[in-house]
Amino acid sequence: MSCRDVLIAPSILASDFARLGAEVAAIEAAGADLVHVDVMDGHFVPNLTIGLPVVSALKRVASRPLDVHLMITDADRYLERYAEAGADWISVHVEACPHLHRTLQRIDAAGAKPGVVLNPHTPQTAIEYVLDQAHHVLVMSVNPGFGGQRFIPEMLPKIERLRERVEARGLATRIEVDGGVGPETSRRVRDAGATVLVAGSAVFGADDYGAAIAAIRG
Ligand code: DX5
Ligand code: ZN
Repeated sequence: MSCRDVLIAPSILASDFARLGAEVAAIEAAGADLVHVDVMDGHFVPNLTIGLPVVSALKRVASRPLDVHLMITDADRYLERYAEAGADWISVHVEACPHLHRTLQRIDAAGAKPGVVLNPHTPQTAIEYVLDQAHHVLVMSVNPGFGGQRFIPEMLPKIERLRERVEARGLATRIEVDGGVGPETSRRVRDAGATVLVAGSAVFGADDYGAAIAAIRG
């Protein structure tokens, strides 16, 4: 697989949690490349979702890699435990990690793919000195905490600038985008340089998951 191939990561936040295993099977059958898991602590973001036991349970049923997005204040406390629970990709917010360089080293040492997340107000320059450590950079295109919000178009130039920096430095870092991505916004996001697209409501809110994933992939 080329690093320019577009990967689609449905966010299970928008799934039917009472049928989580079946929902994961359905998105995998529909062509999902990753399973995006939103961990929220009610502190870093104003919402609470799921944590380690659910990641472990997902690992038993998922055949695609788990893309775990930590929206928690004290990510450093839990890195190794998420890797042990089965997180294949672990993304931490730059706004929540005072020792980001070390945090990314620890994720890598724990055997997961390290990623850095930028809130909408955070410039891409914040990660200039850790860009080479990041397997992926996740650009939030909504304020984190909830699914179903509207895509913030001002994030497109940020994605372009990030892509320029990744290319100028000859890195393989993937750019991931999360929030308000659907068939209407995905082309602009892809054109700007993102190759991993997270979509919650646009997939799980559709009658046909496969058609939704194909439309987002473009
Ligand atoms: C928001 C989460 C997203 C969310 C995306 O804080 O990080 O992953 O599930 O949902 P949609 O695609 O509906 O904006
Ligand atoms: Zn997310």
